Amino acid sequence: MTQAILAKAGRDEALTPAEIGSLLAIGDAAGLQDLYDCAYRVKARHVGRVVYFRGLIEASNICIKDCHYCGIRKSNHNVTRFQMDEGEILREALWAFEHEYGSVVIQAGERQDSAHINLIEQVLRRITAATAGGLGITLSLGEQTATTYRRWREAGAHRYLLRIETTNPQLYRSLHPPDHDFQTRVDCLAHLRNSGYQVGTGVMIGLPGQTLDDLVNDILFMQAMDVDMVGMGPYIPHHDTPLGRPLSPITPSHQLAALTLGLKMIAVTRIVLRDVNIAAATSLQTLSPTGREMGLRCGANVIMPNLTAAEFRCNYTLYDNKPCTHESAAACRECLARRIDRLGETIGFSQQGTPRHYLKRNEKR
Ligand code: 5AD
Ligand code: FES
Repeated sequence: MTQAILAKAGRDEALTPAEIGSLLAIGDAAGLQDLYDCAYRVKARHVGRVVYFRGLIEASNICIKDCHYCGIRKSNHNVTRFQMDEGEILREALWAFEHEYGSVVIQAGERQDSAHINLIEQVLRRITAATAGGLGITLSLGEQTATTYRRWREAGAHRYLLRIETTNPQLYRSLHPPDHDFQTRVDCLAHLRNSGYQVGTGVMIGLPGQTLDDLVNDILFMQAMDVDMVGMGPYIPHHDTPLGRPLSPITPSHQLAALTLGLKMIAVTRIVLRDVNIAAATSLQTLSPTGREMGLRCGANVIMPNLTAAEFRCNYTLYDNKPCTHESAAACRECLARRIDRLGETIGFSQQGTPRHYLKRNEKR
């Protein structure tokens, strides 16, 4: 059964929702290895064995949202809040450029006030000017109006990541306060596409109450939205959040199950979406020291080395045991380069790594 589905995938034939579900349900070691190998071949064929580095700048942990799972939610008063200024963000972006990262991701808690919108716009203009437009810029700054998205695009941003978190609206409601609206998020993804961004979305994997059918629907949603990029990772409890309390100790078998589900989602998403960019999420590494490499072996082709200055990093704790919170940007670069070399993949240094999917869609026009 599994073999027949993987053979279809190998011929780039479309899979039915039931077939996608069967792949996500694989539980035996041999079946998992076949799935991962198949996904790796799909990746090699459609996007190549090249890993793109996106330098991650965590620009601020100030957030107006109160998601029940997130460590930097507004109501968590145990967080020391920080906000980088224009110069600090610019400096990190230029470090990335000089160290041959093809692109950066500017991520922060959500803010919609005009001071914040202006600051981001200014930073985008300064990075674009200082690198003669040579550095790819991704934003991950939450829900904004169509006008704000357009302004930031015009100021130099190329890509935008906005995770849908889960496509089950009922589960979405249970994970968020009543004023966090699922449909608004879907609408934001449409605005981003209309503003000309390369659009990325994704979900958390292994959320309490989430079923395999939900995960199948998540993949079908990403396919229907025709996204260019996927960023998804295992849900990891944070002790200072409603969803993370009471914190029950994660046993090694839980940890392995969560890691495996995360890897299966990456593999099946690669098989279904084929030519998109898929990130090996940092949260994979919370579950295993080599979790991100495993993600690359299962179909991911993007990794996000952290650039954030050490003084801020430890305050950007979305979930417990987040890796690399005490390392420097240089240490993360060297460490990841070594890990990728060991896998036999090359790093796309100084390449923006625009998703094939985006390039093809724009050729068709
Ligand atoms: N575990 C895993 N991922 C999380 N995120 C937020 N909280 C957690 C958590 N506890 C993810 C969300 C958000 C991204 C910035 O971080 O998916 O979109
Ligand atoms: Fe929503 Fe942080 S409170 S992602």
